[in-house]
Amino acid sequence: MITLKNINKSFGSKNVIRDLNLEIPEGEILAIVGPSGGGKTTLLRILAGLESADSGELVLDGTSYNLADGNPTEQVVGVVFQDFQLFPHLNALENITLAPKLVLKKDKNASEAEARELAQLLGIEDLLTSYPFQLSGGQKQRLAIARALSMNPKVLAYDEPTSALDPELRQQVEQLILSMKNAKMTQIVVTHDWDFAEHIGDQLLRVQPLETEELSDNEK
Ligand SMILES: Nc1ncnc2c1ncn2[C@@H]1O[C@H](COP(=O)(O)OP(=O)(O)OP(=O)(O)O)[C@@H](O)[C@H]1O
Ligand SMILES: [Mg+2]
Repeated sequence: MITLKNINKSFGSKNVIRDLNLEIPEGEILAIVGPSGGGKTTLLRILAGLESADSGELVLDGTSYNLADGNPTEQVVGVVFQDFQLFPHLNALENITLAPKLVLKKDKNASEAEARELAQLLGIEDLLTSYPFQLSGGQKQRLAIARALSMNPKVLAYDEPTSALDPELRQQVEQLILSMKNAKMTQIVVTHDWDFAEHIGDQLLRVQPLETEELSDNEK
């Protein structure tokens, strides 16, 4: 069970996330839907440890992580961003093995063996020497998923995983997310697409852009 507690985030006077509380049972999928500017990507950035919340906590299996504290969850939640954020100067294999080597201090052989397994799982094993610019959108997405999985996250999150894909690839992404679910991975899927969200989510969270808060003079 993953619990998110009392998450708040503002950028200046703009309140983006207000007192978010939710629970995701292990192996389930939370779909987050809502209009542009609702704070969906901001939430994923906070969970990925790329942005600090103003307050908030993530509790996983009894361990609590303070989300206002730099990047405490960077190894707990793996995020596949909409633009994938692959390293352009590294080939696919190096994209997958970089973080395990740097952060988890895995040696070359172990990290490469694991990368090959993940590449196989995602059907990109023939592309490991390719650079991101040589890959199609769907292949880049699979590489980004392999890279996220290489850190052995407890939760895998996707930002708009279907937005850049044609219907056939959309179907494949859906299959992929469902196969991760079968493997008991807990997942968060951010999407604009209601049908997709209702179809794939065990739980649906609707977010709305919040009004800018009126600050009193002494808060400005
Ligand atoms: N670093 C930042 N500095 C200031 N404001 C920001 C920053 N990041 C996001 N915002 C603002 O926070 C709000 C939420 O942005 P966010 O990207 O989380 O929305 P979103 O729900 O992902 O939207 P979309 O569906 O368009 O991707 C927006 O109004 C955005 O302008
Ligand atoms: Mg977004």
